[in-house]
Formats: sequence, C-alpha cells, structure tokens
Amino acid sequence: MKISFIGAGNMTHAFLKGLDRSFFEHEIWVSNRSQGKLDRISDLNIHLTLDNHKAVKDADILILAIKPQQMFDLLEEIRSDIHESTIIISLAAGLSIKQLEQWLYLEVKLIRFMPNTAIALGIGSIAICINQNIDISELSLVKDLFKTCGSLIDLDESKFELFIAASGSGIAFVYQIMESYVQVLRELGLDEAQAKALIIDTFLAAGSMAKINPELDDLMNRVASKGGTTIEGLNVLRASKLNDILMDMCKKTIQRSKQLSEELQK
Ligand SMILES: NC(=O)c1ccc[n+]([C@@H]2O[C@H](COP(=O)([O-])OP(=O)(O)OC[C@H]3O[C@@H](n4cnc5c(N)ncnc54)[C@H](OP(=O)(O)O)[C@@H]3O)[C@@H](O)[C@H]2O)c1
Repeated sequence: MKISFIGAGNMTHAFLKGLDRSFFEHEIWVSNRSQGKLDRISDLNIHLTLDNHKAVKDADILILAIKPQQMFDLLEEIRSDIHESTIIISLAAGLSIKQLEQWLYLEVKLIRFMPNTAIALGIGSIAICINQNIDISELSLVKDLFKTCGSLIDLDESKFELFIAASGSGIAFVYQIMESYVQVLRELGLDEAQAKALIIDTFLAAGSMAKINPELDDLMNRVASKGGTTIEGLNVLRASKLNDILMDMCKKTIQRSKQLSEELQK
C-alpha cells in the first residue's frame, strides 16, 4: 500500500514515531512545501519529497497533516491527483467532513482524525469519524494501521470539539496544572528539578493507576484516610472553584474551535 502524509510538521513527526515496524513495510511518502522538516526525518527509510503531486499520485491512504488555514489551497493543488479509491484522512481541527467534501468537489472517501501529541509514545488518543463513502472494512484497515498510536475512539463529529477540550488541547491543560503544582512546591522549599521530577512521577502514577482502575472515587478513598493528610488537601480542592475553572477552560476552547471553523468557511 502507498501511504502518504502531506505536511511534515508536529503531527506527522508524532505519527512516524508512534507507528510500529509493520507500518513501515508499506510504501510511505511524506511531502512538505519546504526542505527543513523533511531533513529531520531523513534517517527513516521512506520517500521524502517537496512535490505534493508525487506523494498524492496513486496513494491508497492520504493523510492531510497541514494547518486548517492551509487546507483549501492544498486541495486545489492536489484535487486532480486524488483517485476515487484513495482514503483521505484529515487531521485539521475545525474543518468538518462537510466542509472538506465541498472543497474537494469530488465523491471521496474521507476520515477525520483528531489526535493528540502522545501518539508519538503510543499512548495517544485519536477520535475518528467517517463520511458515507467509507465502508466497515476500510475503517478497520485504517484502525489496524494506526492502532499502535494509542486509543482509537469512534466519535460523532458533533462531539469533536469536546474531544479537543479533553484530549487534543487537554494534554496542554494538564501540563499547565503540573507547572503550577511545581511552582507551588518551589515556593514551599523544593528545588525546581526535584519538584518537577516528583510531579511528573505523580501524574504518571495517577494516570497509570486510573487506567487499570477507572473508579476515581475509589482511588481517592484508598489514599485519603479519615483524619489523615490527604483529606485536608482534598477538602480544599472540593471547596474551591476548580469545577468552575475547568468549565470555563473547556467552554473557551470549544468556543475558539467553533470560531475557527466559522472563519474557515469559504
Ligand atoms: N499539534 C497538535 O497537537 C494537533 C492536535 C490535533 C490536530 N492537529 C491538526 O494537525 C494538523 C497539523 O498540525 P501540526 O501541528 O503538525 O502543524 P505544523 O507543525 O504547522 O505542520 C504543518 C506542515 O505542513 C506543511 N505545509 C503547509 N502547507 C503545505 C502544502 N501546501 N504542501 C505541503 N506541505 C505544507 C508545513 O510546511 P512548512 O514547514 O514549510 O511551514 C508544515 O511542515 C493541523 O490541521 C492541526 O489542526 C494538531
């Protein structure tokens, strides 16, 4: 199979790190409009090109890994190279299947992926939705190819903005919370490196434990014994406006995603 990525930015790099050896048994192409980011992946045994037409021609799977604002011009450029059997996967935030179909003017097989950067470690999440031209066997083929990147989640397109708040952007929100936690520990007397190492381990441990047992109440109760230290801290969190802050954070993210989507309408 010929599998081509258009755009050699953050997401393509993350995919190429997260995918396993079996993926590279296929004929893999990456095209980018400038040389710099192609040089960073020149050690991989794949085809690199500055010519999008070469990557798109006869591709079985085409991954559009460019910014949403760059998509319209790219589709204009490659439209005539797209074959009706090509499965097109768009990563673009804020660009709906309907919008992409309109820009392509073609009956295409279209899949929308919404990944986060943790796919590079094989622990990412990818929300997936498809258009009416993708059949079950094509969907399973794609899922099989990308399964080593992490969790693949079938999601109604109307929920993609929530997925961005939870996962695509969500990963950065967690980094900010970690950063604030580190700052507080510094102010209380730990040095920065120590505080950072401890907090990274704490988040890793919490995530790993919750992956095995998703009952968060249960996990908390196991740490917070009556009259102990944890319950004191938890009570502060529970009495705070934490939920309101998280609600505002999600709402703002969703609002921006909707706004971007509107700005991109042509
Ligand atoms: N980053 C994330 O965490 C994340 C999460 C979810 C979804 N996404 C989506 O993933 C997509 C890619 O994001 P990204 O972060 O990887 O962006 P990026 O780092 O900016 O990469 C985009 C790449 O596309 C290249 N490019 C632009 N126009 C091109 C064209 N016409 N032909 C060939 N190459 C072209 C750019 O080349 P130059 O180097 O020359 O500029 C750049 O290397 C976006 O649509 C984004 O919404 C990203």
